[in-house]
Amino acid sequence: MGLCIVILAAGQGTRMYSDKPKVLHTLAGKSLLEHVYQTAMVLSHRDIYVVYGHGGDQVPNALQDFQVNWVEQEEQLGTGHAVQQVLPDIPDVDNVLILYGDVPLITEESLNTLVDAAATTGFSLLTTHLEDPHGYGRIIRDEDSNIVAIVEEKDATEEQKRIFEINTGFMVVKADLLKRWVNSLGNDNKQNEYYLTDIVAKAVADNVVIAPVLAESNIEVKGINNRSQLAEAERYFQLVQAHHLMHRGVGLNDPARFDLRGELEIGRDNEIDINVVIEGRVKLGNNVTIGANCYLKDTIIADNVNVLPNTMIDNAVIGSGCNIGPFARIRPDTTLDDDVHIGNFVELKKTDIGKGSKVNHLTYLGDSHIGTETNIGAGTITCNYDGAFKHQTIIGDNVFVGSDVQLIAPVKVNNGATIAAGTTVTKDVAEDELAISRTEQKTIPKWQRPKK
Ligand code: UD1
Ligand code: CA
Repeated sequence: MGLCIVILAAGQGTRMYSDKPKVLHTLAGKSLLEHVYQTAMVLSHRDIYVVYGHGGDQVPNALQDFQVNWVEQEEQLGTGHAVQQVLPDIPDVDNVLILYGDVPLITEESLNTLVDAAATTGFSLLTTHLEDPHGYGRIIRDEDSNIVAIVEEKDATEEQKRIFEINTGFMVVKADLLKRWVNSLGNDNKQNEYYLTDIVAKAVADNVVIAPVLAESNIEVKGINNRSQLAEAERYFQLVQAHHLMHRGVGLNDPARFDLRGELEIGRDNEIDINVVIEGRVKLGNNVTIGANCYLKDTIIADNVNVLPNTMIDNAVIGSGCNIGPFARIRPDTTLDDDVHIGNFVELKKTDIGKGSKVNHLTYLGDSHIGTETNIGAGTITCNYDGAFKHQTIIGDNVFVGSDVQLIAPVKVNNGATIAAGTTVTKDVAEDELAISRTEQKTIPKWQRPKK
C-alpha cells in the first residue's frame, strides 16, 4: 500500500478578478501550485495527481516539468467531483492525501502527522481553530467530541457559524473507502456542488472513526482566495525566509524590507540594505554588501564586492573586489573579472570586462569585450546596432577611452591605444595609437550673446 497525492487545482479563483488561473499566481516568485507540488514531492508517495480545469491547458502548460499525472475536470462541479476524476486510477489499497493548489504554505510536518494518523482508522482530517472562521467549513462534533460532519459556511445555521473549529480541507482517506463515499455524493446544497466534505457524514454512517489532527499553525492552512490573502501569505513567507537567512549569518538591515523570490546561496559577512529584491538563483561570496534598492537576478557575485544603491544586475558573473553602482544596470550575459569598477548610469549588456578596468560614468557597452586595466571615459557609447544586426566592439588591455566617444561596431581598439575625447571611432585602432576625430576648434573673440 502506498500514498497517492491529489492536488485540487481546477477552481477558477473568482475573487482574484484575474484571467490567470488562481493557482498560477505567484508567491515569492513561484506559482501557488508549485509550492504545493514541492511539498508533495518531499513526502514519500507513489503518485501525484493534479486536477486542473478552469483556464484549460494553461496550468499544465505552465508547469510542464512537474512529475505528476494531470487529470482534467471539465466542469467545476465541486471538490468531491474533482476528487472523483482521479479515483479510477488509484489502487484500492492505497491511501489518498488531498491537497489544495490554493493553500501553499502547508508544511511537510503537518502532512506527515496526518498520514500517520490515518493508519489506524483509514480517515484523518486536519482541522484548526480560527478567530474568524468566516468562509470555512465548520467541524461538527458530537457529545463525545467525535467529528460527525462538516458544514460549509453557506449551508450553516447561525449556531453552526459560531463554531471556531474549521475544516482545513487536508485529509487522508483509504482509497476503497474514498471511492465508495465520493461516488455516492449528492449536490443538494446551497451551491449545488458535490462537496468532498460530505464524505465525513458518510464515514460516520459507516462507523469509520475520523482521526482529527490539529494543524501546527493557522497560517499554513490559510487558503488564498483573493489578492489581499495572497499579499498576507507573501509577507509571512518573506519574513520566514529573511529570518532564516539572518540565522545563517546574513546581515539584513530590515527583514521586513527584503524579498527573495528564488534561491540565495550565501557566503560569510554579507550585508544587505533595505528594499533589495533577489530573484531566481543568486550566489554571493564572502564580504559582499548590497546597497538599498538593488535588484539581483540569476547572478553570481564573488568575494569583497560592493553593490551600491539602486543597481540592477541580471544574469551576470561578477568577479571579486568589484564595485558596482550606484544606479548601474548590468544586463544579461555580462561578466566582470576581478576589481572592475562600474559607476553610475552605466549600462552593460553581453559584455565582458577584464581585471582592473573602470567604466565609471554614463556609458553604454553592448556586445563588447574589454581587456584589463582599461579606462572607459564618461559618455562612451558602443554603437552596436545598425537597425538590423548587432555588432561587436573589441577593446584591448591598457586602453584609454576619453569622454564622449562613440565606437561604431564592428570595431577593434588594440592594446595600449588612446581614444581622444569626443572621437567617433569608425576604423580599427592599432596598438599604442592615438585616435582622434574632432573638428578643429574655432574661437571668435568678443562674442556678443543675444540680449532680450
Ligand atoms: C473548501 C472546503 C471547506 C474548507 C476550505 C478550506 C469543500 C466543499 N469545502 O472550501 O470546507 O474549509 O476548502 O480552504 O470542499 N476545486 C476543484 N474543482 C472544483 C472545485 C474546487 O479543483 O470543482 C479546487 C479549487 O481549485 C481549490 C480547492 O478545490 O484549490 C478548494 O475549492 P474552493 O472553491 O476554494 O473551496 P472552499 O470554498 O475554499
Ligand atoms: Ca479555497
